[in-house]
Amino acid sequence: MRPVDASGRVVVVTGGGRGIGASLCRAFARAGAAAVVVADVDEVRAHAVAEEVGGTAVAVDVTREADVHDLIRQTVDARGAIDIYCSNAGIAFGGGPEASDEAWQTSWDVHVMAHVYAARAVLPMMLERGEGCIVGTVSAAGLLNHVAAAPYAVTKAAALSFLEWLAISYGARGVRVSALCPQGVRTPMLAQAGDGDFLDAGALEPDQVATCVIDALRGDQFLILPHPEVHEYFVRRATDHDRWLRGMQRLRRQVMER
Ligand SMILES: NC(=O)c1ccc[n+]([C@@H]2O[C@H](COP(=O)([O-])OP(=O)(O)OC[C@H]3O[C@@H](n4cnc5c(N)ncnc54)[C@H](O)[C@@H]3O)[C@@H](O)[C@H]2O)c1
Repeated sequence: MRPVDASGRVVVVTGGGRGIGASLCRAFARAGAAAVVVADVDEVRAHAVAEEVGGTAVAVDVTREADVHDLIRQTVDARGAIDIYCSNAGIAFGGGPEASDEAWQTSWDVHVMAHVYAARAVLPMMLERGEGCIVGTVSAAGLLNHVAAAPYAVTKAAALSFLEWLAISYGARGVRVSALCPQGVRTPMLAQAGDGDFLDAGALEPDQVATCVIDALRGDQFLILPHPEVHEYFVRRATDHDRWLRGMQRLRRQVMER
């Protein structure tokens, strides 16, 4: 995995209007990025963050391929290239199979198709240059499931799989791919999810997560794990899957009884 230094780079962050995305924009600006493009479906928030970091705001709905294509085209036209594309926008739908079709479909569109649309548009240019970096914000839920949110966990697992596929297919051709997989992060999403202290207890600040991303990109690991315990849980799942499932059943009972 090719190390990437943020200094002097052209960076795009989707979902950049608040939460982890806004912190990523600030961290890339602090790290000396040449340009930070703040892309969000909420134009007002995108503008506020862009103003703060001296970047550019773009209104984008990442579930629309034309929007993602235009974001990438406009950035390349203005800046010559995209060095780092952070596909970060996300939404949280809880529940299980009873969740609405709309919740399932929107989760799929935001968490999976947005990465597919971005890769379609940005990869040819990165492959031609023989360099570039795609960072997908997944979640620990992509590695470890989520006891209260099937649409979220299932689509995050699919996102992780797609990013792995990109790394497998294009890593040797100079394209660096990474998957950011945090547990709880103190953002509006966590506050709205209503998981109580289940994820709140060990939650990190979004700025801590963003710093972790900048540091991790200087290294060579695909997985970016701001919560080190996630690695341990992932190993446990791989080592004894049934035992891990029993532990998750216990956790679900505790969370549901709250
Ligand atoms: N907060 C957590 O605990 C946590 C943990 C693990 C992973 N994540 C992931 O981190 C990412 C960022 O989450 P956050 O906590 O900062 O959430 P957030 O809700 O605070 O911010 C998400 C941003 O994405 C934007 N967005 C949503 N749908 C969009 C769309 N269709 N097009 C463009 N922008 C859109 C929103 O307007 C918002 O500004 C998500 O992918 C989320 O799944 C969050």
